Amino acid sequence: MTLILAIESSCDETACSIVKDGNEILSSIVSSQINVHTMFGGVVPEVASRIHVENISAVICEAVAQAGVTMDDIDAVAYTQGPGLIGSLHVGVQAAKTLAWQFHKPLIPVHHITGHIYANAFVEKLEFPLMALVVSGGHTELVWMKNDYDFQVIGTTVDDAIGEAYDKVARVLDLGYPGGPAIDRLAKQGKADERYRLPVPKTADPMNFSFSGLKTAVLQLDARLKKQGVDVVPADLAYAFQETALNSMVRKTMTAVEQYQPAMLVLAGGVAANSRLRQLVSEQMESYPQTKLVIPPLKYCTDNAAMIGAVGYAAWKHHAFGDFDASADPGLEMPCEL
Ligand code: KG4
Ligand code: ZN
Repeated sequence: MTLILAIESSCDETACSIVKDGNEILSSIVSSQINVHTMFGGVVPEVASRIHVENISAVICEAVAQAGVTMDDIDAVAYTQGPGLIGSLHVGVQAAKTLAWQFHKPLIPVHHITGHIYANAFVEKLEFPLMALVVSGGHTELVWMKNDYDFQVIGTTVDDAIGEAYDKVARVLDLGYPGGPAIDRLAKQGKADERYRLPVPKTADPMNFSFSGLKTAVLQLDARLKKQGVDVVPADLAYAFQETALNSMVRKTMTAVEQYQPAMLVLAGGVAANSRLRQLVSEQMESYPQTKLVIPPLKYCTDNAAMIGAVGYAAWKHHAFGDFDASADPGLEMPCEL
């Protein structure tokens, strides 16, 4: 049995989890700062790091207590090294190093996005080769994994991440922060309307994504209609944005599935909580019965430390240990054996 204590603090969630053998959660504590950042309409990095400092010790103690273990039982300490907000990351890195030093445990630095992918290990044993559609506030990527703990980015956004586009469009529609869940809810009441037709994103490489043009088109359409004195129906505009963004992204994912023929397709990241995305991918994947589809439960789509424990276990098996010189790396690249 291998027990990993995992710490996540890359953005605005302070989290600690104890994970057994990479797929069993003994505890998962997430302290969200969302109420504070909502007041500012987005995450304020300086505020985020201060709140992490205030909460991290209590979150770690609670995770150990709830798991019913002691630090003696822990085999290694995994932590998010990057990417993320530098000040936020630093708090988790220092906490992990302190625990590892005090209790003589090996350190495992983890890439945040690989954690999102491994959150699926709590649903099903991961099967390789695997394709992951990673959709979060900072990332939109297709990641090809020939084997366990082997990552190759085969498609990425050329401009904004999908979550970023959701958040910006939500701001135009006055829906507050975070915008993703609000647009998800509002679009359910919307309908297709010719007046809200939006341009389908285009990229030179068919595996890449683009959302900046679409976001600008929403802003311009909203401004134009208002100038004409037309009452914009927010639900219909949210519907048009969501359908255009998601259909384009799902089509590209299906092209990747067709070309690469993975044993498994997994969704990962905050936007994987989107109900329409889950529905579209499930429908489309019926045409590819040779590929198993796994979608993480909602609580493991957004940031948490259990996912860091899951990928931390894979890193442990591959002896991907770090040392005390390692620091937070806001622009960390995905580990890749190719
Ligand atoms: O993975 P995550 O929690 O943090 C990052 O690593 O970025 O993702 C946060 C993003 C935000 O942009 C948020 O608006 C989006 O995920 N999000 C959603 C939904 N829930 C969260 N986007 C669309 N629909 C949702 N239901
Ligand atoms: Zn995340």
